[in-house]
Amino acid sequence: MESKNSKIKVAVLGATGMVGQRFIQLLENHPWFEVAALAGSSRSAGKKYKDACRWYLEGDMPAAVADMQVLPAAPPMPVQLVFSALPADVAVDIEAEFAQAGYTVCSNSSAYRYDEDVPILIPEINAEHLELLELQKAQRGWPGRIVTSPNCTTTGAVFPLKALDDLFGVEKVMLVSMQAVSGAGYPGLPYLSIIDNVIPFIGGEEKKLELEPRLLLGKMQAGQRISAPTVISAQANRVAVSDGHTICLSVKLNKTAEIEEVKHALQNYAWPQDIQELPSAPKLPMILREEDDRPQPHLDRGAENGMAVSIGRLRACPILDLRLVSVVHNTLRGAASGSILNAELLKARGYLD
Ligand SMILES: NC(=O)c1ccc[n+]([C@@H]2O[C@H](COP(=O)([O-])OP(=O)(O)OC[C@H]3O[C@@H](n4cnc5c(N)ncnc54)[C@H](OP(=O)(O)O)[C@@H]3O)[C@@H](O)[C@H]2O)c1
Repeated sequence: MESKNSKIKVAVLGATGMVGQRFIQLLENHPWFEVAALAGSSRSAGKKYKDACRWYLEGDMPAAVADMQVLPAAPPMPVQLVFSALPADVAVDIEAEFAQAGYTVCSNSSAYRYDEDVPILIPEINAEHLELLELQKAQRGWPGRIVTSPNCTTTGAVFPLKALDDLFGVEKVMLVSMQAVSGAGYPGLPYLSIIDNVIPFIGGEEKKLELEPRLLLGKMQAGQRISAPTVISAQANRVAVSDGHTICLSVKLNKTAEIEEVKHALQNYAWPQDIQELPSAPKLPMILREEDDRPQPHLDRGAENGMAVSIGRLRACPILDLRLVSVVHNTLRGAASGSILNAELLKARGYLD
């Protein structure tokens, strides 16, 4: 076991926000990483973290960060790796400044997600896309690098789609999401707008859901990522759930498959052994539920410490081929934990040496 002093020092940008707080919570006892800097906006910079942050999560704010001073979100910082939980509009400049200054940035924002030379990464799904970092280096000349995580709802959808695509090919998908309030950040929506309500609009979300799975399912060819041809139609809704996004998928496959074969594909999804050994890796990234009324965000978002996507209601579809429901914890697997797993993969594959 590594001693505390040999841990890699990391910073959290957007440390006071919904995702930033999750980073702080998850990194408290991380075996490889240690929080050495926190950053926020001009609202928080200069304050102690405990004074700048309205702690929202279960349990107390970790004592080690409570008295740390929140820094402006700019290099230099006494760290090697930067986790970014910044809004996309400010992340564009800030993340590039860090990469330019030699830091490795693991980002949750969408600022660089769609660039051809930036991996949008889920280790269990497309670890080979890390090869894009060579293209990034060649094109941008940064001594550092940016690796992004997908949108939280994409993460919930793409696990079953990947298992199906590997065996049968996924031609078309109808996707309807019911997304938790915490997905809108803190303080998020006014209570009176969301309680007793469903809001059938989340700005920019549907475009992300129609594009991101195609990137994640894409294949590497001569150092470039070729997007999957899958066509996706998405409808995104905000619902009065605190954490955990629910996604209903109807899927048309390229090859005919019996429901039992699909079940087998979901239960036996294969992923690289070195990723299974990373500290934050779940034992199973996908859990197939057989009960009629599962998965539910309240019951299933915490599966495998919030790292497993729960899938259920697998059945035939009279219009496309099959239907299923997926639940993902949006601030854990869909954000901070997913990003930490990305950083662990970068370390394991030698990018932080
Ligand atoms: N919430 C989710 O479920 C989720 C899931 C996946 C991805 N994401 C993405 O993760 C990012 C953070 O989301 P969130 O939900 O955590 O948002 P949030 O709760 O609104 O937090 C935003 C954070 O960014 C900081 N910030 C805002 N403007 C800044 C600026 N100009 N300079 C430096 N820091 C600034 C804020 O600091 P102050 O408090 O100091 O103002 C706060 O710490 C977004 O890109 C979001 O799309 C969110």
